[in-house]
Amino acid sequence: MLVTIARRIENFGIEQKVSAMRWLAPVALLATLLIATPAQAAEPLRSHAEDRGKFIGTALATTPLAGEAAYRNIAAAQFNQITAENAMKWEDTEPSDGNYTFAGADQIVAFATQNNQTVHGHTLVWHSQTPGWVQGLSAAAMRTAMQDHIATVVGRYAANPVVTSWDVVNEAFNEDGTFRTSFWYNTLGQGYIAEAFRLARAADPNARLCINDYNVEGINAKSTALYNLVSSLRSQGVPVDCVGFQAHLATQYGFPGQVQQNLQRFADLGVEVRFTELDVRIVMPRDAAKDATQATYFRNIINACNAVTACSGVTLWGFTDKHSWVPDTFPSEGAALIYDANYATKPAYTAVHDALAGPPSNDTTPPTTPTALTASGTTSTSTNLSWTASTDNVGVVGYDILRGSSVVGTSTTTSFTASGLSPSTTYQFQVRARDAAGLTSPLSGAVSVTTGPGSGGGCTAAATTQTQWSTGYVIQPVTVTNTGSAGISGWTVTFTLPAGHTITGHWNAAVTVSGSTVTAKNMPYNGTLAANASTSFGLQASRPNGNTALPSGYSCA
Ligand code: XIL
Repeated sequence: MLVTIARRIENFGIEQKVSAMRWLAPVALLATLLIATPAQAAEPLRSHAEDRGKFIGTALATTPLAGEAAYRNIAAAQFNQITAENAMKWEDTEPSDGNYTFAGADQIVAFATQNNQTVHGHTLVWHSQTPGWVQGLSAAAMRTAMQDHIATVVGRYAANPVVTSWDVVNEAFNEDGTFRTSFWYNTLGQGYIAEAFRLARAADPNARLCINDYNVEGINAKSTALYNLVSSLRSQGVPVDCVGFQAHLATQYGFPGQVQQNLQRFADLGVEVRFTELDVRIVMPRDAAKDATQATYFRNIINACNAVTACSGVTLWGFTDKHSWVPDTFPSEGAALIYDANYATKPAYTAVHDALAGPPSNDTTPPTTPTALTASGTTSTSTNLSWTASTDNVGVVGYDILRGSSVVGTSTTTSFTASGLSPSTTYQFQVRARDAAGLTSPLSGAVSVTTGPGSGGGCTAAATTQTQWSTGYVIQPVTVTNTGSAGISGWTVTFTLPAGHTITGHWNAAVTVSGSTVTAKNMPYNGTLAANASTSFGLQASRPNGNTALPSGYSCA
């Protein structure tokens, strides 16, 4: 107990120290010293989560938060992370075009600030709880609305250290793994996802940006589609930092298969993972057997997160059956949370508590250093790393892969493919081993890798704005130069079109637009370029009056 508290004090800031001390009422301390029963049983969920370096969160609704002391007290004492159940959704924050209302969102952030909790922003781009005025917009206007909404809502809290992450895109997939044909998808195409993430990164470079969905906890068609999307977005440099698994479970449908393996495969892409909306509903009425099954589901989710280093924590979708979305949404189902409607704890509370408290680990021996790190099969954008296994007194659970000083991925085997690299660039990689107690080995020796030139030996694109007026512009010439030492037989230039702009004409290139990304490919007559030779193309675009942005980020391959 004292060791636990001391560790918490080391790991957290002054304010947390004060709140840690508050739990140590003198009587409880005396009891701890005199009685053999572990004092952890009396400690709140958040202190056990903090000991693990993870969060335990809850969604909060603004009405009981304002009106009920019991709701506030439990939320403050038990949880160290908060998600607004509704208050940060589009219909709450921008009910009509350009009219922002932040009363509820600010109430949540103020509560979290008072109680040393972090806030996960939920949610920016979703097909649900988004007002009708957004849904009917033309593509150009919808893009502008998205840009304005993300900049304003994320921007409001960008400098606030309490708001640490956002659900940027929510529920983009159907159950079979195809894209949900929401108004976002139907109007802007699948590029809306990448665009939303880029806009969120621009609005708050420090927030972790998540894609969130339901029925993706186990390995299935939907979670595999999400996995493939996250992998492909990251290889294109789209800033997806985190994947949220909602985890709205129901005892009558069984516990999903391979949850830990699923978390780990996402973690191996280099993203943070988290459970974002955990509840476990039952077919009413409650009885002891259903309570026990429900408790097992909660325990399994906490254990899965405990077992995966990249899992940052678990958020419950509310904590009391008095305030839960379940009875309103699923007829004849309910009792999905860890406190009953009178704020008494249920078996599920004990399950969450004990899984977070866990058996204490007395392992103090880290794994040995991985050796013989080598790189092979290096292309212009990737390289295959492999090394010799570490050993450990208990067992190695995986390896962290570092590029420079940042962890860029994890692996449960002794190899890893580092992708998303830039052509003709030198990188340094190292690996370290990790055991079940979270102890890490020293870093391996470094391997230095220089990627090959881009396809075709390298080319560059340079754009000149020939003329512009308030509602449009002509970019001419975009000069494409073969910078390689051999001839090329084709080129592709990509660049970013500002939100709300539309290409109205182009010449000497075949042009396609996906979201904000424009792709211009050579025509049959200007694809062949000798070393150092150049050609050019041009385009005309319209833009909303007064928006003076121009395309940016030209690259050539
Ligand atoms: C739910 C809220 O809990 C309800 O109060 C509201 O009426 C509807 O939305 N997935 C999500 C959450 O991402 O935002 C949803 O929350 C539950 C499903």
